[in-house]
Amino acid sequence: MYKVQLRSEIAKLKAYTPGLSIDEIRQKYGLTQVIKMASNENPLGTSPYVQEVICRHAGDAFRYPRSGNPRLVQALASKYQVSAKNIVIGNGSDEVIDLLLRTLTTPNQDAIACFDPCFALYPIQAQIAGLTIKSCPLNPDFSFNFAGLLELIDAKTKIVFLTTPDNPSGFCPPRDDLLNFILKVSSYPHCLVVIDEAYMDFCPHEEDASLLFKQPLPDNVAIMRTFSKSYGLAGLRIGYAIVPEAVADIFWRARLPFSLNILAEEAALAALEDEPFHEETLQIVQVGREMIAADLNKLGCQVFPSVANFLMFTLPKNYAADDCFQYLLSQGIIIRRLTSYNLPEHLRVTIGNAHENEAFIKAMANFLA
Ligand SMILES: Cc1ncc(COP(=O)(O)O)c(C=O)c1O
Repeated sequence: MYKVQLRSEIAKLKAYTPGLSIDEIRQKYGLTQVIKMASNENPLGTSPYVQEVICRHAGDAFRYPRSGNPRLVQALASKYQVSAKNIVIGNGSDEVIDLLLRTLTTPNQDAIACFDPCFALYPIQAQIAGLTIKSCPLNPDFSFNFAGLLELIDAKTKIVFLTTPDNPSGFCPPRDDLLNFILKVSSYPHCLVVIDEAYMDFCPHEEDASLLFKQPLPDNVAIMRTFSKSYGLAGLRIGYAIVPEAVADIFWRARLPFSLNILAEEAALAALEDEPFHEETLQIVQVGREMIAADLNKLGCQVFPSVANFLMFTLPKNYAADDCFQYLLSQGIIIRRLTSYNLPEHLRVTIGNAHENEAFIKAMANFLA
């Protein structure tokens, strides 16, 4: 009889917990209308122009995509004014994270460092890659303890993951603090600092906060971005990173040849062209973020400062986060519980469109009444 034999670290693996889906909640509560504010998706949906381009290219689905996605690589190189040799593209940032881990480290020998809590996929994929995970607690206000993180790094640490703005808090460190940290890490010549900027374009002062606007980049840095959030393409899975040339070279050799599908590549190219949609998304998120933060504060919640497209908050005394989460579900509103981040008293809400934001605040007011 067949029996699975697992490496011990795989046997202990806990799967990534995604936000609940609209269909699940519709069925469970017998609702017709469900609002999802759980996975930091785009409040405007998919750009109509991108939809048109996808339809136009539907007939190409029988073809393999061109290996290496040279058109998208070139478009991103032009956007950020870097060499095409520094761009890598994956099936979502998730694939970029996974491939960096698997190509730059040796199992059962190397380590990664990150903050705790952090985006769950870094430690999960590191565990699968057979790595030691060293984590430094965030400060109580969710700002970054760079000195503590630095202390964890040694010759075996091959990747440090940082998220700016951070998930789930929305905190964004001053760029000079980040640069200072990167400089200190450079005394370990085999350690790459991966800065995950999945939410950076929602930051009102992106040009002062992002490393991408401070060229030339330090040579021990990779910066990841995604089309899943502000470009509204989470379902098509497109992520990318600006990395040192030697890292790009090994990445492309190791990546499955066609992991970015032909429609996703066309959609990403079209999304880069549709600047008005991107701008409108950023505008709607900024207005919604200010409105929700002010209203939650008025209701007695503690809202953590965020420059991303979500807000993390806690409830007034004597209210439990789980009760609030369940109440919102019963009203057809899905937000995010943060138990998988070890934050059972915290909740995270994605900024929606004006109608969704109002429905969320109304339900919160009812719950707290
Ligand atoms: C910090 C962070 N990085 C990466 C991702 C994943 O992005 P993608 O959809 O491109 O895989 C997410 C998704 O929620 C995220 O929060």
